Amino acid sequence: MCGIIGYVGDQDAMETLLIGLDNLEYRGYDSAGVALQNGGGVDLVKREGEVNTLKAAISSLDIQGSSGIGHTRWSTHGEPSDANAHPHTDCSNDVAVVHNGIIDNYNELRVQLTEAGHTFTSDTDTEVIPHLVAEKLSEGKTPKEAFTQTLTALEGSYAIAMVLSGEDTIYAARSGSPLVVGIGDDGYYLASDVPAFLEFTEDVIYLEDGDVAILSETGYETIDVEGNPVSRTVDTVEWSPEGAEKGGFDHYMLKEIHEQPTALERATRGRALTDARMTDGGTAANEIDPELIADVDSVQFIACGTSYHAALYGEQLLADRGIEARTSLASEFVASPPPLREETLVIGVTQSGETADTLEALREAKARGQKTLAITNVIGSTAARECDEAMFIRAGPEIGVAATKTFSSQVTTLAQFAGFLSDDPEDLPAIQSELTTLPDKVQQVLNESEAEELANKYRDAPSYFFVGRGTGHPVALEGALKLKEISYEHAEGFPAGELKHGPLALVTPETPVFAIATGENEDRMQGTIREVAARGAPVVVIGDGSVTFDGATDQLTIPSTSPELSGILANVQLQLLSYHIASLLDRPIDKPRNLAKSVTVE
Ligand code: F6R
Repeated sequence: MCGIIGYVGDQDAMETLLIGLDNLEYRGYDSAGVALQNGGGVDLVKREGEVNTLKAAISSLDIQGSSGIGHTRWSTHGEPSDANAHPHTDCSNDVAVVHNGIIDNYNELRVQLTEAGHTFTSDTDTEVIPHLVAEKLSEGKTPKEAFTQTLTALEGSYAIAMVLSGEDTIYAARSGSPLVVGIGDDGYYLASDVPAFLEFTEDVIYLEDGDVAILSETGYETIDVEGNPVSRTVDTVEWSPEGAEKGGFDHYMLKEIHEQPTALERATRGRALTDARMTDGGTAANEIDPELIADVDSVQFIACGTSYHAALYGEQLLADRGIEARTSLASEFVASPPPLREETLVIGVTQSGETADTLEALREAKARGQKTLAITNVIGSTAARECDEAMFIRAGPEIGVAATKTFSSQVTTLAQFAGFLSDDPEDLPAIQSELTTLPDKVQQVLNESEAEELANKYRDAPSYFFVGRGTGHPVALEGALKLKEISYEHAEGFPAGELKHGPLALVTPETPVFAIATGENEDRMQGTIREVAARGAPVVVIGDGSVTFDGATDQLTIPSTSPELSGILANVQLQLLSYHIASLLDRPIDKPRNLAKSVTVE
C-alpha cells in the first residue's frame, strides 16, 4: 500500500529519499515519485512502475536539495500512470504533496477549486490538497495556516506530507493513516512506517490522529490543526536495520521463515503471565490491565487474511478450554455486526495494526462499549493505540508481503492468552513450558524439511487442496492462502470433514491434497485420506510420523509437540512448500501482484 518518506537536513535529500523509497517497496506499489524544494520552486519527478524506473529518470537530471518528500503509490483513485503518481502540485508548482488514505469529499473540493480557476492534471483525490494550500497562500495565509486550514476542509483519512517552494520545511499531518517522525543526527525524517528510515535513526515519534508535524533543519514541532502545541514522546525502535534487510537470503519471505525460531523465542520469553497481570518483559507499552479481563466470559476476534487464520486458531484454543469464542472477518463484522454481550472482549488480531478493515471493526466494537485488545506486531500502531490494551507478538519487522513469521508469533501469543484465561492454574505453565521447546522444533523443520523436493514433484499441478480438522483447519486455510498469494496457482483449504460435501468433486489424480494430520484427529484424518486416495489424488500428510496413514503418498514430517501447538510446525512446512513452488515458477515472491503489505483502505 502507499508509502511516504520525507527528509530535511544536512544530507543530500534526493539520496535519502531514494533509499527510503527502496525501503518502502515491500508495501506494494505501482508508481513512485519525489519532490525537492529548490529555493525557486519544486523539482518534481514521478514515474509509473518501479522505483528503479524513477531512479533512471532522475539520473539524467541534476536535482539537489536539503528537503523533500517521496511516495510509492498503490492506486485507489485513477489508474497507475505518471500523472497519477505522487507528489501532486498546485498550478504553479510551488506546493508539492504526497498522501496516503482517501479524501472522501475530493469531488466537491475539486469542483470548487476548478471554479476558482485551478487546473487539475490527475485523476487523484490527493491533488485537491496542493491546490487548496495554494489557494490559502494566495489569500495571504502563512504556510502553517494554509496547511492546517486545508486539513480542516478535508474529510476522509490521510497521512500527508508537503514541501513548499522557498523554505526547507516539511509539513505533515495524520488522520487515520500512520505517520512517524524520525529524529536523526543529521536531520529529520518522516515516513508511513519505520523501516523506511531505520538505517538513519531509531528515535521516532508516532504521530496520532489530528497531529500536525512541522520539520525543519533546526528542529520540529508537533501541533494540532488549531495550532496548539501537542506533546509527543520520542520512542526508541528496537528493530535493527539488519532485521529489515535480506541477510543473505534470496527473498525476505525465506529470511522471515527462517527467523521463526528467534521470533517464537521472543514471543514467549519474558512474557510473565501471572494471575494479576500480563506483562511483557518490562515493555511498558505491553501491560494488560487486569480490569480488562476481570469480567470477560467470551471473546470476539476480528481480523483479515493470515491474521484471520491465526485468530481462528486462537478461537479453537479458547474453545478447548471451555471459553466461548467467535472469529469474524473484519469486513464482515462491519457489514453485519454480530450481537455482543458486555462481558465479551473484542480482540483485533493484526500484524501491522493498520489494516483499515480491522481498525474500522475495532472502532465499531468500541463505539458499542466493548473492551478491546489489539494483538499486533507494531508498537505505536493505530490498533495498539486505539484499543484499551495491546499485546505485542514481537516478531520483528516483516517485509515480505506474505505473512509468515507473524502468523507463528500470533498463534504463540494467542496460546499464552488462552492459558491465561483458562480456569486451570496448571494450564498456562504447561503451555509456556511447551512453547519454550518450540523454537528448536521449528529449527529442526527448517533444517530437515523435504518441502523443496515436494515442490518440484507437484509444481505443475492445476490445483492444490489443503485439509485439516480442529487447529489443522486454519492451518489448511493458511497453507492455501500462502500458496495462491505467492505462486498464483489455484489452491483451496477446507475443513477435512467438508470435503465429501462438495469439494471432493474437484479432486482428481492431478490435484495433490495436503492433509494436516496434527492435533488429536488422526483417526478421522485417516478417513479423509482414504476418501481422497480412492479418487487417485496424491496425498501429502503433514504430521509427526507417529501414525502411518493408509493411502498417503508423501509425508512432511514435523517433530512431536503438544497437539494444540503442532499446527505451528505444520504451517512452517507449508510456508516452505509455497515458497519453493513460487520460486520454481519464478514468481516475484516478496511483492506478489495486486497485493500490499499493509491494506490501509477498506
Ligand atoms: C497474507 C497477508 C494478509 C494479511 C492481512 C491482514 O499473507 O499478509 O492476508 O494477513 O492483510 O493484515 P494485518 O495482519 O496487518 O492486519
